Amino acid sequence: MGSILFRHVNLSDGRNGVDVLIDGDRIAAIGPGLAAPEGAELVQGDGLLLAPPFVDAHFHLDATLSYGLPRVNQSGTLLEGIALWGELKPQLAQEALVERALQYCDWAVARGLLAIRSHVDVCDERLLAVEALLHVRQKVRPYLDLQLVAFPQDGLLRSPKALANLKRALDLGVDVVGGIPHFERTMAEGAESVRLLCELAAERGLPVDMHCDESDDPLSRHIETLAFHTQRLGMQGRVTGSHLTSMHSMDNYYASKLIPLIAEAQVHAVANPLINITLQGRHDSYPKRRGMTRVPELMAAGVNVGFGHDCVMDPWYALGSADMLEVAQMGLHVAQMTSQAQMRACFDAVTVNSARILGLADYGIEVGRPADMVLLQASSPVEAIRLRATRLMVVRRGAVLSRTPPAIAHVQLPGRPETVDWALQRAAPPTRASR
Ligand code: FE2
Repeated sequence: MGSILFRHVNLSDGRNGVDVLIDGDRIAAIGPGLAAPEGAELVQGDGLLLAPPFVDAHFHLDATLSYGLPRVNQSGTLLEGIALWGELKPQLAQEALVERALQYCDWAVARGLLAIRSHVDVCDERLLAVEALLHVRQKVRPYLDLQLVAFPQDGLLRSPKALANLKRALDLGVDVVGGIPHFERTMAEGAESVRLLCELAAERGLPVDMHCDESDDPLSRHIETLAFHTQRLGMQGRVTGSHLTSMHSMDNYYASKLIPLIAEAQVHAVANPLINITLQGRHDSYPKRRGMTRVPELMAAGVNVGFGHDCVMDPWYALGSADMLEVAQMGLHVAQMTSQAQMRACFDAVTVNSARILGLADYGIEVGRPADMVLLQASSPVEAIRLRATRLMVVRRGAVLSRTPPAIAHVQLPGRPETVDWALQRAAPPTRASR
């Protein structure tokens, strides 16, 4: 491993036109006009965006790329997806599951997505998916940070052996305690599951990340209970509420009480824009609710909000390609976050905010930190979202893991330029970003 010097790049935190020097596996220097060490690879950035890697705060690697197995979800609802996953589970073979997960990780790396928090279903006596994903976590460790959440898909209390299986999964080395309170039989059992799981996590010193209130029912208020136990057990900053879609449908007065409680407990929030917009509101005629949680309001209250992809080609969602810029773009549209600051916040939701949720130490482009970064064919975070920009180079610990040629169309139009790259203004074409 040698050194790489990026010349004249823009960073996603607003530092523009700087050089970034990688020496070995670390960032050695950031500043204007850095000298190139002997033998360094020189990358002429010409104002391209050099960003820290994308981070997916919420995914299901055990189900990914299984679309159509054993059949497709006809209604498109969350509940049919869960039923379909139940049909598929007994048929899962470990080898095939590992292979699908590894293939998804290949896609992720090529998209500059180098950290994923994946829920893994523990409601299977064999713990087949748990064992498979522990193996995958080990296998991808050199190039991707995979964090696993013990997820009782069929309900901690509703499914007879879920609690015992969840504990077994944690004993095997799963990193985070999961839950699904809105899927328990009653509101009371949902609240009880939140208490049990938070206490279990506190005992074991583990973080919590629950599927919480993934429902259009405005009375699904388990996030309130999650914030309460987070504070009671002193787990501030280590607990995440995923989905929180019922907040979309809640009464505004109640939301005005709830959001400060979430902020006070320092509970992180995760929205899954692609999935929320397709799964929620399915019982509505018109008007149809969007279902996504109140992202700008949570952010304004100081809550750390990340975006997750949640699903790619599985029982719940037929599309996707590990592109966190697609996720950010959908989040931006659904939440109507169209000011410059809000669009940048959507970029943060798939990078730095999600890194905080995963608790990634040493994340970000700073001197002395690990040399993990993505060179994008865009000049700013907003342009990266607009173009779902090509990941020209993906670097991890100083090693180039992936290169993609710039997206440039060669056109033949009378009196017009010969190429189109969809950039409004740029000092030089992105072709110069190559070696
Ligand atoms: Fe999920």
